[in-house]
Amino acid sequence: MAAGRKASRSARRSAVTEPKLTPSLPAHDAAMIAPGSGWGLRNRMARIVQPDGRSVMLAVDHGYFLGPTSRLEVPRRTVEPLLPFIDSLMCTRGVLRTSVPAVSTTSVVLRVSGGPSIVGPNLANEHITTTMREALRLNCVGVGMSIFVGTAHESQTVRNLGELVNEAEDIGMPVLAITAVGKELEKRDARYLSLCCRLAAEIGAHMVKTYYCEDFEKVVEGCPAPIWVAGGPKLDEAEALELTYNSIQAGAVGVDMGRNIWQSEHPVAMVQAVRAVVHEDYTVKEAFAFFSELSGR
Ligand code: R5P
Repeated sequence: MAAGRKASRSARRSAVTEPKLTPSLPAHDAAMIAPGSGWGLRNRMARIVQPDGRSVMLAVDHGYFLGPTSRLEVPRRTVEPLLPFIDSLMCTRGVLRTSVPAVSTTSVVLRVSGGPSIVGPNLANEHITTTMREALRLNCVGVGMSIFVGTAHESQTVRNLGELVNEAEDIGMPVLAITAVGKELEKRDARYLSLCCRLAAEIGAHMVKTYYCEDFEKVVEGCPAPIWVAGGPKLDEAEALELTYNSIQAGAVGVDMGRNIWQSEHPVAMVQAVRAVVHEDYTVKEAFAFFSELSGR
């Protein structure tokens, strides 16, 4: 069923995009990367976004401000079983060095901003904490950082982004801008997130990560860079699959999801169900049935 659906979706997509493409380039390459980008940047992007133009990124960077949060107390234990089912892993250098086997071939997007913690006065007061040289040394295919639009640290964090993109362009490293809201989850509406995403893309982010919201297609439409959706706090598995489905339908390239995968009682089943929605166009019902079958729930 899934293979058939994927084949027919691919056929439809390539029928639409083929005339515009250089024959040797996969669809997403030409569609999503600015003309003039170097081979290195396009190659790194191709190791994050699959040839179908979709992407499953697993976020395990939460410890950089939350400490040993629930189900991520021992990162290696959380991460290792999920590696076979993801296209890329988003984490800090500390987790990468200590908790991901060096023989892993999974692409890594490195979290390079931080500073404040959940018990400090202001989560928005972030700085760049990890150098571009370190990202290269760790063989990463992208770097990620947060911007906090509408806070007292808006300008500082947007400047962080601009400076990171300047360095990244020199070596062809894609930059993921994360439109963070800190503790103010109620900020997640289309008007605010459209502003954040557009701003991130205009400053030069090659990838943007944001939250799903009502009228999400407007957020996608107003952002010239590809968008990944964060899962946010833990939901029921069916709700998380619905969020994934709606995000993809509205035009997101994929998810950069954490808690809704590894805080599930059945993370290995959940990551495969999310993957089926992103890459195989499973409906919510089909994906939940797949999750139930895999988890025995
Ligand atoms: C938060 O700032 C972190 O960057 C997480 O990577 C992000 O929130 C995605 O994880 P989750 O799906 O758990 O929200």
